[in-house]
Amino acid sequence: MWGGRFDKAPADRARAFTRSFPIDRRMYREDIVASRAHAAMLGRSGLLPQDSVRAIIEGLDGLLEELVACGGPSLTDDEDIHSFVERELTERIGEDGRRLHFARSRNDQVATDFRLYCKGFSLRLADALLDLMEVLVTRAAEEAETVAPGFTHLQVAQPITLGHYFLALTEMHERDLAEVIRAFSAADVCPLGSGALSGVPYDIDREGVAEELGFSQISRNSLDAVADRDFVTVILNACAGLAGHLSRWSEDLVVWASPGYQLIRFDEAYSTGSSMLPQKQNPDIAELTRARAASVLGVAVGWQATLKGVPLAYGLDLQEDKRAVFGVEDDLLVGLSAITGAIATATIDRARMADLARQGYPEAIEIADYLSELGLPFRDAHAAAGRLVRLAESKNVALLGLDDSDFSDVDARLPGEIRNRLDLRGIVDRRSSYGGTAPALVADEANRARQRIDWNRDRLRELVRDGLPQPLRGIIGD
Ligand code: ARG
Repeated sequence: MWGGRFDKAPADRARAFTRSFPIDRRMYREDIVASRAHAAMLGRSGLLPQDSVRAIIEGLDGLLEELVACGGPSLTDDEDIHSFVERELTERIGEDGRRLHFARSRNDQVATDFRLYCKGFSLRLADALLDLMEVLVTRAAEEAETVAPGFTHLQVAQPITLGHYFLALTEMHERDLAEVIRAFSAADVCPLGSGALSGVPYDIDREGVAEELGFSQISRNSLDAVADRDFVTVILNACAGLAGHLSRWSEDLVVWASPGYQLIRFDEAYSTGSSMLPQKQNPDIAELTRARAASVLGVAVGWQATLKGVPLAYGLDLQEDKRAVFGVEDDLLVGLSAITGAIATATIDRARMADLARQGYPEAIEIADYLSELGLPFRDAHAAAGRLVRLAESKNVALLGLDDSDFSDVDARLPGEIRNRLDLRGIVDRRSSYGGTAPALVADEANRARQRIDWNRDRLRELVRDGLPQPLRGIIGD
């Protein structure tokens, strides 16, 4: 590729360290598609004769077809995906293959390829995330009326509906989805035509190339175009945010599946056993989801540390972007799919949910609220309810187990109505301010969340259709 200026070939160990083909061969589709658009542009701009362009395009199309059929390039001795494609092309069509790299550098080429890759990755991720959100919304609708313990500090705080919990997760993941779509937009700028760093000395049709490749914009500054990997930072941060959310609720599930709680049970198909202890059924998928979030975050932070040290424009440090993103993609897509299956099939123990929701006097606030409604200052009402909790604790009964006289000692008006107020189902039913846990609200919100998922699915289809060139589209939802 650059032997003309050198007397020596690279040392084996230098090459082993610097070459990227073992990793970047994964983006062979992107490289071929971008080369195709570049060749067509060279033809339109009069830089290559049409015969050569035709030969190049036919050669690239044939190569792509072959590679797709066999699942991608096998590991050859090539330096990177770019030199692999050029060599394969030249072996097929001869000298015209050697004309392809006119008015292009690997610097603008690799930035283009990887932007295409990250656009596709963001859409694959959005697709998998929508699958998870659909499961969460389904579970929310099923459990709209299930009374469950609501925790703060991992202490039972107030009863909620389990559907409300699942919708809280949907909210988190809707924000993740917005970040993932933003990552698509961040990558959606075409740098091809920037050359090595300063542009090219020809009147080339950059808009046409961008359009053919599904980019909505072209880069404005050639130096920035080849130096910029902020789109990598954006997608890795989106991944770290998503993985962090998955980790957080995975931790809930690990706790909920433990003997002290027994609120849920993972399906056997999504559990693992122990080689020694015959009775064990472990929540390994949730645990691994928790751990993988840490490594995704580590990659995201490591990448930003890499990027901050690279002087403009290009440095080989930037080659590490593929290693970072591909690893995160593998971890996240496999993990997301497994945890989606785990939550879809987990069994919920509704009786245990209700039992635990009663532990620790979570109805005490009802007494304080009722006394406030009767005209007591809330602070005094709070103190009175606290005294009743202490009394119930000393008698070892629930608040409903207190005598009428215990209630009337606090306020003569208390005994009549208060027993109705202490029923858990009534408590959640009354939490009906917008955004509250009332079953009726949860059912409505689940419907609305489902509509938003459907809308996002349509939007995703549009982004695939308008934002990716044909050969890159099939990989969504495969
Ligand atoms: N394999 C390189 C990468 O992934 C391609 C660009 C190499 N450019 C260079 N000037 N060494 O970034």
